[in-house]
Amino acid sequence: MDIIVTGASRGIGRELVKILAGEGHRVLACARSGKKLLELQAEVGEAAQIIPLAVDLGVSDSYDSVAKTVKQLELNPMVLINNAGYLVSKPFEELHANDFEQTFNINVKAVFLLVQALLPFMPKGAHIVNIGSMGGYQGSAKFPGLSLYSAAKGALAVFTECLAEELKDEGIKANCLALGAAQTEMLAEAFPGYKAPLSAAEMASFVADFSLHGSKFFNGKILPVSVSTP
Ligand SMILES: NC(=O)c1ccc[n+]([C@@H]2O[C@H](COP(=O)([O-])OP(=O)(O)OC[C@H]3O[C@@H](n4cnc5c(N)ncnc54)[C@H](OP(=O)(O)O)[C@@H]3O)[C@@H](O)[C@H]2O)c1
Repeated sequence: MDIIVTGASRGIGRELVKILAGEGHRVLACARSGKKLLELQAEVGEAAQIIPLAVDLGVSDSYDSVAKTVKQLELNPMVLINNAGYLVSKPFEELHANDFEQTFNINVKAVFLLVQALLPFMPKGAHIVNIGSMGGYQGSAKFPGLSLYSAAKGALAVFTECLAEELKDEGIKANCLALGAAQTEMLAEAFPGYKAPLSAAEMASFVADFSLHGSKFFNGKILPVSVSTP
């Protein structure tokens, strides 16, 4: 199966690529750091089908460049995992307009525009998985400093519900996984010293399985994936 994973150079995305490529899927792995993607490819080994693509999803022509690669390689993406994310942790009063732009650009706008660019290549039965956060899940515990990040992930969650409705006729499903804490560099930067209940690999194993099989059971859903927050 052809699968696209964004945010593949570290954290949960990197583990996702390892699992999915290890299961024999062809994975287009996207992130800004081409060097880290090549290291990942080398680590997984030549037998695995990983296509590294260095791309900055904060830049407007990036969506077309992913689509161009998909077209050139004649990929049929059955799964798109919008995992790339950006977190700013700052008290509300200290947030600037550029924090707002960056946060919404990567967590929301990039997902809208990447899905638009890739839709022409996604076959019937494809599954779009948007990686949200418990912070953006209505009614969950909230944390100081994460108002912007949580608001962006909330927007992504509602967008996912709308997307599923819009793509009904194309036979493409869309779901949002609102993740709880997993031990990654993003988490360590946001919560220094905090020990998450799950490793990146453990969280990735659930996301990989859900991405492959979850669309049979869920569409347009925002699913909390958390053992740590209410
Ligand atoms: N870890 C947690 O506890 C947790 C909890 C809830 C939700 N999440 C969500 O889960 C996802 C993965 O989180 P993580 O903890 O694994 O994060 P991470 O370690 O910070 O990894 C983020 C990934 O996104 C990529 N990325 C960032 N900006 C990008 C851009 N402009 N263009 C392309 N790629 C970009 C990064 O690669 P480059 O720097 O090479 O571009 C990296 O591969 C995120 O959406 C995050 O919000 C995580």
